[in-house]
Amino acid sequence: MPKTTKRHIAVTGGAGFIGSNLLLHLVPNHPDSLYVNIDCLTYAGNLANLQAIENADNYVFEKIDICDYNALKECFDHHGIDSVIHLAAESHVDRSITGPAEFVASNINGTFNLLELARVAHEQSREFRFHQVSTDEVFGSLGATGYFTEESRYRPNSPYSASKAAADHLVRAYHKTYGLDTVTTNCSNNYGPYQFPEKLLPLMIRNATTGKQLPVYGDGRQVRDWLYVEDHCEALELVFYEGETGETYNIGGHNEIENIELVRMLCRTLDDLLGGGPRENLIEFVKDRPGHDRRYAIDPGYIKKKLGWVPRYTFEQGLRLTIQWYLDHEEWLEGCLSGEYRRYYEMNYGKR
Ligand code: NAD
Ligand code: TYD
Repeated sequence: MPKTTKRHIAVTGGAGFIGSNLLLHLVPNHPDSLYVNIDCLTYAGNLANLQAIENADNYVFEKIDICDYNALKECFDHHGIDSVIHLAAESHVDRSITGPAEFVASNINGTFNLLELARVAHEQSREFRFHQVSTDEVFGSLGATGYFTEESRYRPNSPYSASKAAADHLVRAYHKTYGLDTVTTNCSNNYGPYQFPEKLLPLMIRNATTGKQLPVYGDGRQVRDWLYVEDHCEALELVFYEGETGETYNIGGHNEIENIELVRMLCRTLDDLLGGGPRENLIEFVKDRPGHDRRYAIDPGYIKKKLGWVPRYTFEQGLRLTIQWYLDHEEWLEGCLSGEYRRYYEMNYGKR
């Protein structure tokens, strides 16, 4: 990416799980970049996550739906946006099965709107970098062995992964056809602070600490490759600022674990920390997710070789930090489920 003294970067989905962690990382680290957080605050967006940076000189929040092209255009013009780090998406596989329409709208049409704005800038010979933040789920399911590499075929199996795959293809096409400066990252399952408690880890932590059933889908032998969110954010920072144009990078930390084993580890850790239990008794095998991918695993060799990225957290460290964070932020967890987010927005931004 060509170096400019000050970049004006739209971070879409900045109020979500990864977006919040990313902005909390980037804003203090790059005082000469302006970060414009574009988020429409769905159930998954929470501005309270960003209190530590909300008054920073190089941070602005704009409540905009990426499906609204005109609102996006006005915002891009107003802030002189010259790059996008695109995270805004509907992100939960189970929701995509019961209601795929929003996934097509936000993940495909929303990405298209952003690309169109990027194309206008590029065709006016303005520097513009577009970073598509995507998932390993676009590659579908692995068998018992092997890894996803940058060469793996796209074979998405859920409406969520299909919508992300479509968006990745549009990004690729805008690079090949229009010469837009793009980078794409495909990352494995993240865990850490601020993850909405519909996803495996925070859901299980909440249920296990409140004595509720721990619903494990199918036989629980599905494998996910877990990465601590801070490690993902460092990889995103590196790819955005230093990645090669037109390239894609797979991000993962070689942390494959079966769901059932993860839930058992979690139960044992909570028993250690809080006493009581055994919480494993709360585990219940429930009906499987339709089209459930069996195994994901990333080969992160390329990003390591090209950009020198390696994760800093072991799984044991990351898991301890994550569990402790949720134990210390019980009100955050409950707020997610009670609509507390909305009240925070009204209080802090409603009159602006
Ligand atoms: P999330 O659901 O926690 O957050 C998504 C954010 O996007 C929310 O703040 C939401 O309000 C916003 N948003 C959704 N639709 C929008 C729209 N139409 N306009 C504006 N804002 C909108 O998701 P996450 O887990 O933080 O994931 C962020 C990105 O990273 C997604 O693109 C996802 O596909 C990708 N990703 C996630 C993981 C993971 O394990 N969570 C792994 C790899 C890639
Ligand atoms: P999830 O956090 O939804 O992420 P993804 O589907 O994007 O990988 O789920 C992680 C794994 O945990 C997945 O194999 C589904 C499984 N799972 C359960 O067994 N029970 C649950 O309640 C949830 C939410 C997920």
